[in-house]
Parts: sequence; structure tokens; C-alpha cells
Amino acid sequence: MAHHSCSNLDTSPTINRITAGTTAIDKDAYTKNVRVQAIRIAAPKTGKILRSQELKGLVLELPKFSSVVREENDDSRLVLLQAKPEDALPSTALKFVDEEGGTIVPYNFSLKYDYWTADEILQATLPEELREESPTGFAITGHIAHFNLRDEYLPFKKIIGEIVIDKNKRIRTVVNKLDNIHNEFRFFEMELVAGDADYVVEHHESDCKFTFDFREVYWNSRLHTEHERLVSIFKPEDGIIADVFAGVGPFAVPAAKKGCAVLANDLNPNSVKWLNKNSEDNKVGNLLRASCEDGRDFIRGAARRAYDEPFAAYAGPKPNRRQVREERRRRLEQQGEGAARPEPDDTVTVEKPPRNRIAHFVMNLPDTAIDFLDAFRGVLSRDLRGVYSELPMVHCHCFTRFLDLADARADIEKRVESALGASLRGNFSLHFVRSVAPNKDMYCISFRLPEGVAFQ
Ligand SMILES: C[S@@+](CC[C@H](N)C(=O)[O-])C[C@H]1O[C@@H](n2cnc3c(N)ncnc32)[C@H](O)[C@@H]1O
Repeated sequence: MAHHSCSNLDTSPTINRITAGTTAIDKDAYTKNVRVQAIRIAAPKTGKILRSQELKGLVLELPKFSSVVREENDDSRLVLLQAKPEDALPSTALKFVDEEGGTIVPYNFSLKYDYWTADEILQATLPEELREESPTGFAITGHIAHFNLRDEYLPFKKIIGEIVIDKNKRIRTVVNKLDNIHNEFRFFEMELVAGDADYVVEHHESDCKFTFDFREVYWNSRLHTEHERLVSIFKPEDGIIADVFAGVGPFAVPAAKKGCAVLANDLNPNSVKWLNKNSEDNKVGNLLRASCEDGRDFIRGAARRAYDEPFAAYAGPKPNRRQVREERRRRLEQQGEGAARPEPDDTVTVEKPPRNRIAHFVMNLPDTAIDFLDAFRGVLSRDLRGVYSELPMVHCHCFTRFLDLADARADIEKRVESALGASLRGNFSLHFVRSVAPNKDMYCISFRLPEGVAFQ
């Protein structure tokens, strides 16, 4: 798209349309030679010219492009204008320039392939009939850009991919998602469109580093706010987080990083493989235990597992470097005073009990998570009653076709209650996560597990 700021000056790339057979683009072909008028002015007056009321709106404004050119002699500058050489300038502007001792001169410059955005280049490249909806709607995960290209764009995918790589420093690999999503494990089949055939990505989210093979596991960067939202609810001292459909750990790893004890489960062995790596890489191995079970079995076994093999009590936030330094200095000072004060380590601390109770279940498998809720029926045996004076919260993601909030609420409430075999009596909250398709919204319903269900 042309830059709007220059109404009459065309600074878009030179059109270089491709046909279905094109395998490489000629980057030089996009070069645009631009001819404008400029004000030659004594260097110290440049600021005055740029700020002047008389020239307001006339100075060239191009993104990433300086409208002031230093001349060889260094005594004068050229202030570039939006005007073409044949355009008449307003008389007030001419008078002002004259009074300041400036002169109007022509100036030529060229913009090259590297100057424009991917979108601008695509607009100048794709066949006329495909320009309307430029296919730049891609998501980035690590160094991979993934498209969902419509059929019409497929003959041009290689060129599209190469332009995207040229224009984004982070991107080394461009893939196109194919239609078939693996039903159970939710990962996509994809074809390489351009760049390296390297699918192991390193992605940063919630201050954690995630590594995984994009071809073997589920990942969706669009969920990052939802990951952060739930993790922000968790409190390390409250109890254990049980992530039923953990994937490679976007809830589990950040939760452990903030001190929560986590049981993280996924049925896809590859997810668990990367989950364990991410747990190690983020140094939370002591707080995160991974398992590879069906979600229903995991739900049924989690409370017992937490009770039999509890996690150590939360010891409070890790001191940061400054705090460690200050503590060390304080101790040294004390030693210097020669006082027989007790070392801080000797101070009496009240022993906190280990964490053996599940505080939150996370269920992010929106397609079918509600169907797993029946596993909570009778999930707690009577002997755990004492431990569960406060019952776990369940955060269950789901889709609905009802786009109106009240309808969505009623629909989700009904399905959840039917799976639990009990009423929630309106005690739940519903969070809109995102719209996944024109007729499909994703929500997260949160509720405390009803006592009648847990001890059924
Ligand atoms: C939508 S993904 C969510 C992953 C992760 N929580 C996230 O936000 O990225 C659902 C995950 O559930 C796993 N899964 C599918 N069916 C399962 C089942 N029956 N039991 C346990 N995990 C399952 C899939 O392998 C996938 O990793």
C-alpha cells in the first residue's frame, strides 16, 4: 500500500507481478526512482525550516527515511519536500524560504526492495486478482512463520515465503499449515514453503523459554494472554496445580517458575518429551512432575498422587541478586562487630507443611475437555476429606457456537453440569478467551468442584 502521508507522491514499489510459474523474484525490479523538490538551506537553519508554520505539511514524511540530506560541503542541508518538480509551491512557502536565504532545487533518490514492508512488496508482486486480500496473516513461533494459505495463493507460496523471510529478521522457515489437524494431539501437518527445514523452535513466553518440534506437538502463540491470565491466579502457597492437557508446558512451566508445585500431564509422548526439556531449561525440575496418561486417568489419580508424594512447602520468592548481595554484606558487618549474634540461618522458622493438596485443575483441550469432567465424580476418597476442606478449582476450556454471551453461558453451563452430573448453582465464572472462527468462540469456565461431585 502507498504511504498515505504523501498524497501525490508515489513511493510504493515498482510493480513486478509474478505468474504461477515464477520461482524467483528480481529484487532490482522494485526500485522506485522518486523526484522531488528540496530546500537548500544553511545548516544552522535546518531546524527552523522543519518547524516553520509556512512549510507545514510540505516537508517529505516517509517512514524510516530522513527528509534532511547533508550536503557534501557540510555547510548546507537539503530539506526534502513532498512536492514533485513540476508542482507549484504555495507563495507563502516560497516567500519564507527566500527570506531565510534558501533556494528550491530538484532532488532525486531511489527506494529499493529493502525499504518496503512485506505487505507492500506482496502488493506489488502478487497477480492483480489476489491483491485484495494479501496473505500476510501469518503467525510467528520462534523462527517459523506459519501461514494458512488459501488455494489461490498456493502457486505463489514460494515467493510469498521468500519475501516474508527477507522482511523479518527472526524468520528462517516458512510453512503452510495443511488442513488436517491431528485429532488427538492437536498438532498440524505442514509443508515447507521457504527457508530451512528446521522445525525445532525456541519460543519465549511468560519469561520462560520453550523448545519444541513444531511438527510433533501443539502450540498456539495466540493463547499467551490466556496462559498468563491463569498463571497469575495461581498462588504457590495454595496447593498444587494439576494441568491435565499440559502440552509442552505454557501453563505448567511459568506456574512452576513462580513457585507453584505442578503435576503436568499430556497423552502425546512427544509433548511430554519437550515438556521435560522445558522444565529443565527453565530450572523448575524440582517443582514440575510430568506424566503421559489419558486425561481421565490423570484426573482420577492426581489427588492421591499429590497426597502420597507431596511437594515441599513453598519457601517464598527466590531472593534476587541485590537481596543476596545485601544479605551477604549484612552478615559480614555483623562478623566485623564481633558480636555473637545468631546467624540468620539459625533463626527459628515455623515449619510449613508440605503441599499435598490440589488447588487448581487446568483443562485446555477446548474441543472435548468438558467430556472429561465426569472423571471428577467421586474423585476424592473419604480419607482425603481433611486435606480438602477447600475443594480444587477447575478451569475448563471449551468452544461454543453461541456467539452471544448469555447464550454461550447457558450452553456451557448446561454441558458442564451434565458431565459433572450436578448443578453448579450459578457458582462459576466464564472468561471469553478468543474467537477461533467466525462462528466459534473459545471460553474458559472456572468453578470450585462441588463437594457432592468430589465425594460422590
Ligand atoms: C489444545 S492443546 C493445549 C496444550 C497446552 N495446554 C497449551 O495451552 O498449549 C491440548 C493438549 O491435550 C493433549 N491431549 C489430547 N487428548 C488427550 C487426552 N485424552 N489425555 C491427555 N492429553 C490429551 C494434546 O496432546 C495437546 O497437547
